[in-house]
Amino acid sequence: MMQLKLLAASLALAGSSAVWAVASEPISPIQPAKVTQPALVELGMKLYFDPRLSKSGFISCNSCHNLSMGGTDNLKTSIGHNWNEGPINAPTVLNSSLNLAQFWDGRAKDLQAQAGGPIANPGEMGSNHLLAVEVLQSIPGYVLEFKKAFGSDKVTIEEVTKAIAAFEETLVTPNARFDKWLKGDKKAITADELAGYKLFKESGCTGCHNGPAVGGNSYQKMGVVAPYNASSPAQGRVGVTGNDADRFNFKVPTLRNVELTYPYFHDGAANTLKEAVDTMARIQLGKTFTAEENAKVVAFLKTLTGDQPSFKLPQLPPSSDSTPRPEPFAKK
Ligand code: HEC
Ligand code: HEC
Repeated sequence: MMQLKLLAASLALAGSSAVWAVASEPISPIQPAKVTQPALVELGMKLYFDPRLSKSGFISCNSCHNLSMGGTDNLKTSIGHNWNEGPINAPTVLNSSLNLAQFWDGRAKDLQAQAGGPIANPGEMGSNHLLAVEVLQSIPGYVLEFKKAFGSDKVTIEEVTKAIAAFEETLVTPNARFDKWLKGDKKAITADELAGYKLFKESGCTGCHNGPAVGGNSYQKMGVVAPYNASSPAQGRVGVTGNDADRFNFKVPTLRNVELTYPYFHDGAANTLKEAVDTMARIQLGKTFTAEENAKVVAFLKTLTGDQPSFKLPQLPPSSDSTPRPEPFAKK
């Protein structure tokens, strides 16, 4: 007990000095994940990589949120079941636990609420919750793992989504060079990168891109000063609130690891950071950066790349004789 109290006190101290070091900046460092339920996280990782959650047996969460590519697919819009091309760009799953809600329009309140969506989305994994649970229940290795994590032999979709969410909560990316700078290592970023940060701050980018995720914590209009001609029919937040003032408001995306998560914007129309920064400055702030200023802002954004998820590639338990077989989708 005594020891615990001491530990708590020293943690509180460490916490307050960290806050003190960065309190004057609009961006704060990413904290590493604390894993309290390792069996749950391990199970969630397997489910994340398991294409048997899709009807075709071909598509996993990792197909569109590839953890070897910044948690995205690097496509303009994703390709799902039946070669369906979705209407909107896949955001990264990295640091998504820091978002105020999930999806571009915030229609899922948290990661668990989000995780059931793609499994049953006809254009994504094309399955349904009953079938996904039937598949898992038929795999003895999974039944054991669900039992270890939840204490029951019966697999439910709530458990599936809870495990996936627990895994996603570990997908944070601490130790970016910019975070080292925030914590006092003044040599962690170059003079040009620092100049880029100053431009980012002084131009007003931090009005929307702030906090630990450098975004993810508000909905904002795409096109505050000048209109944006999107190549996607998505209307944003209005679809959730029904309030016309929310038309074309989108969740501000995180800029953590943005160097890896191209192409940009909800319609995936900007291929490069140079283009995305130019568009943002013009349509959100009514500002035109010179080529040199733009390059500095881009250099700063690249300092936001943190430690990528790192773990042993999960080995998935084999199907049994009674596992429902995948249904391949039609040729295009
Ligand atoms: C076919 C591609 C595809 C598959 C498969 C897929 N996703 Fe997604 N994911 C997307 C797209 C596209 C969006 C954005 C949709 C929107 O905002 O309307 C998204 C959004 C998300 C978000 C919200 C992130 C944010 O910043 O708002 C999370 C989290 C996520 N997916 C996790 C998952 C998980 C977990 C799985 C597996 C159960 C999964 N996805 C399967 C394409 C996919
Ligand atoms: C008024 C709020 C606001 C301001 C100010 C703002 N942004 Fe954004 N930013 C957004 C929103 C909202 C999006 C997503 C818009 C969309 O895709 O429809 C976004 C998207 C981006 C993206 C693309 C990220 C991705 O993953 O798709 C980048 C890069 C970006 N902003 C950089 C900047 C920079 C640099 C500045 C300053 C020059 C800036 N932003 C100013 C709200 C803002």
